Amino acid sequence: MSQELKIIFPGKLVFGKGCISSLTEELLSIASSRVLIITIEPLLETLNTFIKTLKEAGLSLMIDTSIVQEPSFADFKALLSKVSPFNADVVLGIGGGSVLDISKLIAAQLDNEQSLEEIVGNGLLKGRKKKLICVPATSGTGSEVSPNAILVDNEDNQKKGIISPFLVPDSVYVDPILTVSVPPAITAATGLDALTHCLEAYTNKFAQPFIDMYAFEGMRLIAANIVQAVKEGTDEEARIQVAMGSLLGGFCLGPVNTAGVHALSYPLGSMFHLAHGLSNALLLPYIMEFNIPAAPQRYADVAIALGCIPEVDTIDTAYKGVEKIRQLIEDCGIPSRLSELNIPESAIPEMAKDAMKITRLLKNNPRLITLEDAIAIYKAAY
Ligand SMILES: NC(=O)c1ccc[n+]([C@@H]2O[C@H](COP(=O)([O-])OP(=O)(O)OC[C@H]3O[C@@H](n4cnc5c(N)ncnc54)[C@H](O)[C@@H]3O)[C@@H](O)[C@H]2O)c1
Ligand SMILES: [Zn+2]
Repeated sequence: MSQELKIIFPGKLVFGKGCISSLTEELLSIASSRVLIITIEPLLETLNTFIKTLKEAGLSLMIDTSIVQEPSFADFKALLSKVSPFNADVVLGIGGGSVLDISKLIAAQLDNEQSLEEIVGNGLLKGRKKKLICVPATSGTGSEVSPNAILVDNEDNQKKGIISPFLVPDSVYVDPILTVSVPPAITAATGLDALTHCLEAYTNKFAQPFIDMYAFEGMRLIAANIVQAVKEGTDEEARIQVAMGSLLGGFCLGPVNTAGVHALSYPLGSMFHLAHGLSNALLLPYIMEFNIPAAPQRYADVAIALGCIPEVDTIDTAYKGVEKIRQLIEDCGIPSRLSELNIPESAIPEMAKDAMKITRLLKNNPRLITLEDAIAIYKAAY
């Protein structure tokens, strides 16, 4: 244990089927408030009763559904100007990681003197004046409990992180039923993202026993249920288990965070607009293979969490974990090669160069990744 353990928990966390009704109670208890709801079109029908109840109780609502996927600096700024005149007291984000990240930043930047550019990075945001409530609608990013928000910088097309304890919400409601409408391909990609959060925290250079508990259990729950959630989207039990795994993965992000997979996946998102979870899934088995020699016992533990039967040799158990991940990817219907996604092989050197800039995550990887290694990993995944 080489680093201190520091976790900023949300003020309140509610998890369970139908728990959106407790959110109604919380909002009604702060009567006369002005609530900005940032969400997505596909959820409006599901949220109909919730929204109606709030309106009937006299709350002022502004509902925005302009954020769809992988938001940029420009998307954020446009939304901030649009919602500022509404003068919200509460910012409520209900959606996938894209909506949650934006909601966290809107809550922080309303009435804040700091510009977006001034808060990009670690610990630069000085505060947040608006109450922030997050409700995840994908089982994936764990953004609802993490201090992170990720935006694409339009200037250089790089994904940039804003990391601050003020981005951890005041209240979090995880209602797995909201994920029932997530289409299979997105269920698969987001589920693999959540699994990667747990896996990269567990095998992290700065792993922590306290976070290991979350990471191990998160891997176990997601590996055991993701295929069913993809194939039978209405299977509530599978959705509940994967949602819990995703939440546990979110708790891994602040204190320990991700590593090589996320660093190398960022250029796929910024250069080719691949969904975040899909980018991670494409690289995960190859980076596991690259990392195993540096942390065989940790990867053997990962294999056990994924449901593999241990071999006599630790290293053999560790490699069984890679095979299990490959199987999950196949069973979830996720493409397994970069070449299947219209990514030109000639882009690999530039992708590798860009990935090398993500030092905040690369430093966590159990094995040093050089530029040449990154090129070799992309080629292996091609
Ligand atoms: N803050 C963090 O800690 C953190 C961690 C990982 C990733 N991220 C960021 O989160 C974003 C990705 O988030 P995501 O993977 O959750 O996907 P997303 O929010 O981009 O959503 C993907 C697609 O699914 C749709 N969708 C979402 N929920 C739905 C539902 N319940 N029913 C029907 N459709 C639904 C969305 O409209 C969108 O089209 C990226 O920008 C990534 O960089 C943030
Ligand atoms: Zn992720």
